[in-house]
Amino acid sequence: MKTETFRGFGGVVLSVERHGSPEDPGVVLVHTGGQSAVAWRQTAEALVAAGRHVLCPDLRGHGRSARPADGRYDLDAYAEDLRALLRALPTRPVIVGVALGAAIALAAIADDGAHLAAGVVTAGVAPDLDPEAVRRLARDPRPDEGADPRWTTGLDMATLQQTLESVLGQVRLPLLILHGADNRLVSLEARESMARRAPNARHVEIEGASHDIAADQPERFQALLLEFLETEAPRDPMAYQSGSDVRTLRDALGCFGTGVTVVTTTDGNGTPVGLTANSFTSVSLAPPLLLFCLARSAGSLAAFEASSTFAVNVLHIGQQPTSDRFARPGEDRFAETAFEPWHDGVPALVGSLAVFLCRKHAVHDGGDHRIFVGEVIRARFEPRRDPLLYFRGRYRRLHFA
Ligand SMILES: Cc1cc2nc3c(=O)[nH]c(=O)nc-3n(C[C@H](O)[C@H](O)[C@H](O)COP(=O)(O)O)c2cc1C
Repeated sequence: MKTETFRGFGGVVLSVERHGSPEDPGVVLVHTGGQSAVAWRQTAEALVAAGRHVLCPDLRGHGRSARPADGRYDLDAYAEDLRALLRALPTRPVIVGVALGAAIALAAIADDGAHLAAGVVTAGVAPDLDPEAVRRLARDPRPDEGADPRWTTGLDMATLQQTLESVLGQVRLPLLILHGADNRLVSLEARESMARRAPNARHVEIEGASHDIAADQPERFQALLLEFLETEAPRDPMAYQSGSDVRTLRDALGCFGTGVTVVTTTDGNGTPVGLTANSFTSVSLAPPLLLFCLARSAGSLAAFEASSTFAVNVLHIGQQPTSDRFARPGEDRFAETAFEPWHDGVPALVGSLAVFLCRKHAVHDGGDHRIFVGEVIRARFEPRRDPLLYFRGRYRRLHFA
């Protein structure tokens, strides 16, 4: 288990526990108010054993997460925190939430948040919560978690109800809705009305459990969760077909491991221009051609369109900071990077694994990218270094010598 931090809504520093291998399909477990990620340890262990990668954030003001300076504990702020975590993941996880955590999970997938998750499991929440029971629970959070007592004051029940109603009415993602039969927060009528609002969801009632089903009936909870994961987010290959969302296509394309390059040129003033690109491919030996693809949205596009020469710098394992720098917008990328002007002043990054200096041969339309084909006029390379690799949205290194 590893504990990491990430930035949530308004920059608040939040803590997340990571269990298992990031290669496995993800599950995000969201605890309820007054608890912390620690509440999920047993569930996380069971999920890791079943081949899942598990992330358990501490909500703002809970566990190791910071208390927001502006004191915001409303549903929107919590949901934005969760979205920030989801956006940073290489693939879409299933989100599981208990009570407040479940409300946050549903709020996070509202509107365009829907593409951030593969499915949602809620335990112990419904739009029509019993307000008196909520107040009682908020006054008496679990004593051992040391949560900021203000977390309850920001929660407006009317907003929560409205948000949940609206999400349940629009959600297309696979949804499993669990209720503990002994839950004082959610009456039988509230459960029935939730079932009517989400007719495509699977609804299960669990005897001998209150809102915190994971704690009260761990085995039953885990069995239901695993069954849902196996059906809705199987470990088999994900599928893409035309019309599916772009993220799935990116995930599919990310299965092709590549090296990493920085492509460089100069603009009309002779100022160096460059960006990180892994869309590099050798094309032809006679004549010697290669290509890379440049997004039409890239700020560097105009310079590459105008210039008649460019260079492809293949990065070695020690150049990951360079790759990061040339992929981040708004940085003076060359200020921190050793380079030498090569033919026509085109910058060659010092120490690269290989540099190919090219005369522009052709530029083709490539949808939302432009395809730059270059004729190699000079190349130099370093035969003894390992490459920087990129696979499934992350940097990698060679495993064998
Ligand atoms: C590993 C990696 C590979 C990338 N490959 C490409 C690519 O092939 N083509 C592209 O247009 N952008 C690619 N990018 C994104 C650009 O580097 C990034 O958007 C950069 O900020 C663009 O800079 P610009 O807008 O100044 O041109 C890649 C980013 C990373 C981290």
